[in-house]
Amino acid sequence: MIDITTALRTNGSVRGFTPEPVSDAVVAALLDDARFAPSGGNQQPWRVAVVKDAAVRRQMADHMRPVWQEYMGAQQAGKRAFAFGKSTGDAPIAVPNALIDQIETVPVVLAIAADLRRIAIMDGNQDQRPAIVGGASIYPFCWSILLAAKARGLGGVLTTFLSRAEQGAAPVLGLPDGHALAATIFLGVPTHQNTKLRRNPVETFATVDRFDGPPLAP
Ligand SMILES: Cc1cc2nc3c(=O)[nH]c(=O)nc-3n(C[C@H](O)[C@H](O)[C@H](O)COP(=O)(O)O)c2cc1C
Repeated sequence: MIDITTALRTNGSVRGFTPEPVSDAVVAALLDDARFAPSGGNQQPWRVAVVKDAAVRRQMADHMRPVWQEYMGAQQAGKRAFAFGKSTGDAPIAVPNALIDQIETVPVVLAIAADLRRIAIMDGNQDQRPAIVGGASIYPFCWSILLAAKARGLGGVLTTFLSRAEQGAAPVLGLPDGHALAATIFLGVPTHQNTKLRRNPVETFATVDRFDGPPLAP
């Protein structure tokens, strides 16, 4: 069993998987662990579609691809893609992406939806910026799936390509009214998992009393 601190510090994204299948029983066990994630008012707004059908997966991929190519176009132009939800207007670039191009071979594909009617969007009244707090009722659940996977020797990655193509993807997945497509999670037995993660040190983001205060010095 991996200890929780090690799991927190080493759960790097996995985008390459062996062909070894992951049973429904294991997927159900991951979700059974993840359901203990916190959510605002304990509303547990998650819904999960375990997407097995190759045709459905291919349609998901077809909706993800233009988003990926737009992302790469912005990257290539040295811009931050989708900042404040906006397109940069740069020409999309066709770069292969194994998750998208070989979606049928990924052992587990989970579409994660959130029931917006059950989420208190506490900062939904800020007209100067996009709301962010609502996501906190669904992404801890997603991260718990990835940690639960790690605990079983599996790995994966949370992706949001499809969220940008939600309108097109909704009928493919039967997304219920009032729900948002929060993430697509890919899982399987890793061909490789990076455990030396590049993250900024605490002194670069933690200050005392105020965000312009002195650095937290342990
Ligand atoms: C909100 C969110 C959205 C993400 N979207 C994507 C995505 O669309 N495609 C993808 O390949 N990875 C996606 N990722 C994974 C990140 O790229 C990854 O967590 C980050 O680059 C750190 O890399 P590492 O896990 O290898 O250290 C996403 C992660 C988060 C938390």
